[in-house]
Amino acid sequence: MEYKNASELLSKYNQAHVLEYYNELTEEEKSSLLTQIERTDFSVLESLGNDAEAERGSFEPLGAVTVEEVEKNREKYTQAGIEAIRAGKAAAVLLAGGQGTRLGFDKPKGMFNIGQTRELYIFECLINNLLDVVKQADAWVPLYIMTSEKNHEDTTSFFKEKNYFGYNEEYVKFFIQDMAPSVDFSGKILMESKSSMSLSPNGNGGWFSSMARAGLLEDIKAKGVEWLNVFAVDNVLQRIADPAFIGAVILSGCESGGKVVSKADPDERVGVLCLEDGKPSIVEYYEMTDEMRTSYDADGRLSYNYGVILNYLFSIDRLEKIVNNKMPMHIAKKKIPYMDENGTLITPDEPNGYKFETLVLDMVHMQESCLSYEVVRNREFAPVKNKEGVDSVVSARELLKENGVIL
Ligand code: UTP
Repeated sequence: MEYKNASELLSKYNQAHVLEYYNELTEEEKSSLLTQIERTDFSVLESLGNDAEAERGSFEPLGAVTVEEVEKNREKYTQAGIEAIRAGKAAAVLLAGGQGTRLGFDKPKGMFNIGQTRELYIFECLINNLLDVVKQADAWVPLYIMTSEKNHEDTTSFFKEKNYFGYNEEYVKFFIQDMAPSVDFSGKILMESKSSMSLSPNGNGGWFSSMARAGLLEDIKAKGVEWLNVFAVDNVLQRIADPAFIGAVILSGCESGGKVVSKADPDERVGVLCLEDGKPSIVEYYEMTDEMRTSYDADGRLSYNYGVILNYLFSIDRLEKIVNNKMPMHIAKKKIPYMDENGTLITPDEPNGYKFETLVLDMVHMQESCLSYEVVRNREFAPVKNKEGVDSVVSARELLKENGVIL
């Protein structure tokens, strides 16, 4: 991009200060800043003051295929799922573009060693879980891994170095998600240095459009994939491409599915799969009224009982229809490192600005139907968000041990 075009673009968004130090930069820095400007989606700035959470519809509870029902039908579901996997119809998508700030680990979260007496990386736990399915189905499941500009190099080198943890390299493909600028509370883009804006991964909601931009739809089509199982990097007990889950969704005729767990208590801070204006949706814990939180159904279960664990099955057909839909923008207050007027990089102790993110959970509301599929929490849900306490390295280690994993 030429300086003139960059300057015009920035002026349009009231961000001319991004080029304030341009004349002081080396040729290399100049070109890197112009490239960064060219690649950045400034239209996210238009969402300021227009947060996604402002406009929600009317909620109703949505039941689930319960753990008891899954057990009764396990054989039938598993068989349908295995058939789909053998026919190459199911693939998995690992969302690993996040920054994992809460964990405070300076490498990609998947590179965290959760082992105690041996090395056992988070990525390795996930691959081991997927290998269980590969063995069961006697077929490789294509695995697509989303990274961000910030962690792509580390992630891909790590997989190579570790020999893909025994997975078949031919079935693993990486793609990079987009970045969004961070702004201060007055809406001005924060700078990381004189030649670089403060950018962060733009949330996990853009995974399918990033996949499409990376040219991976051709690969998906060539392989005959019809279903994508999307999951988070941090749940070390995650069952990936779970045949029973895939089979249950296919047999239900729903165009998507979400794995859920029964809420531990009415106040648990988890998003709940429900209906919004008659369509599947996720209501966040802070969006629920007291009445929603504490109402029970005829079976004595919480009406809004089923919390999502970021493990969804989407059909390619539907994803292609919604790929160009505008996703709601979530604007979060965060602590964002920035360069002050003296050119010093400051790491703030308090939130100092906003980051822009779209979220995969908003895709659920773009589906006509979603099968809510309950799983046993202690078997399938051990998220590593923090160092200790709730959803932490400590709690995940306990759960791994409980499930027979040697640490
Ligand atoms: P989280 O919401 O836990 O975010 O991500 P995070 O960035 O990993 O962690 P914190 O909040 O900074 O501590 C849920 C899943 O979505 C992925 C993460 O890698 C994780 O698997 N994700 C998140 C992306 O792939 N891209 C993003 O931009 C954000």
